[in-house]
Amino acid sequence: MNKEKEVVGEMFNDIAPKYDFLNHFLSMGLDKVWRKKAVNQLKNKNPKHILDVATGTGDFAIKLNKVLKSKVTGVDISEGMLKVGVEKISKLGLSDSINLQVGDSTNLSFKDQEFDAVTVAFGVRNFENLNKGLSEMLRVTKEDGKIVILEFSKPRLFPFKQLYSFYSLKVLPFIGALFSSNKNAYTYLPKSVMAFPDGDKFLQIMENVGYKNCKRKVMSLGIVTIYTGIK
Ligand SMILES: C[S@@+](CC[C@H](N)C(=O)[O-])C[C@H]1O[C@@H](n2cnc3c(N)ncnc32)[C@H](O)[C@@H]1O
Repeated sequence: MNKEKEVVGEMFNDIAPKYDFLNHFLSMGLDKVWRKKAVNQLKNKNPKHILDVATGTGDFAIKLNKVLKSKVTGVDISEGMLKVGVEKISKLGLSDSINLQVGDSTNLSFKDQEFDAVTVAFGVRNFENLNKGLSEMLRVTKEDGKIVILEFSKPRLFPFKQLYSFYSLKVLPFIGALFSSNKNAYTYLPKSVMAFPDGDKFLQIMENVGYKNCKRKVMSLGIVTIYTGIK
């Protein structure tokens, strides 16, 4: 594993036990709404088998399975996050239809065109090699299959932009440090959002990698965006 990936993996291992709680708390429950809207993007495709990349503690994989009744395979570089996910899935009695395993977006251990759809929720901005991750996702998607990417973006409207900046740069790291064992993780979060090429820039990257019919849907005044593309 290269250094950057190792640092990201360790950070998520550290925050794994509190990840779900902080996710719901810091987003004031909106993360559930965002995931549901992203899952709905696949409703008309009836995918039988979905790959969820950077699946973490499996919340998006669970939502995909519950709403679409699809079989889901989730991969992530953080064993700590996966452990929380596997326990949760087992408690829900969903272990037969959701399988989580260690896997890296830059080198997916699956055959070409193995999945009907591929998803990532709040993961692409952590990829140390965005282009490689996106092209691997495209490789394992079937012809005409859909790729759905949910990611934080930067609000641009005054005064919401300023309020959101204050919340994410001051409030969020403070609360994160209070509850989580890794003090830097919730400082990393807004920084990674700021550094991420969102909006049209990201659509351009998807197109350059070979995704077709690329679209984006902005939610919650620009805090998050759903990007979709077809193979
Ligand atoms: C913010 S969490 C998102 C988890 C989950 N998808 C969700 O919606 O809550 C980001 C995840 O990306 C994973 N990750 C980062 N880089 C990765 C990579 N190159 N390949 C696979 N997973 C990666 C991290 O380990 C972490 O679990």
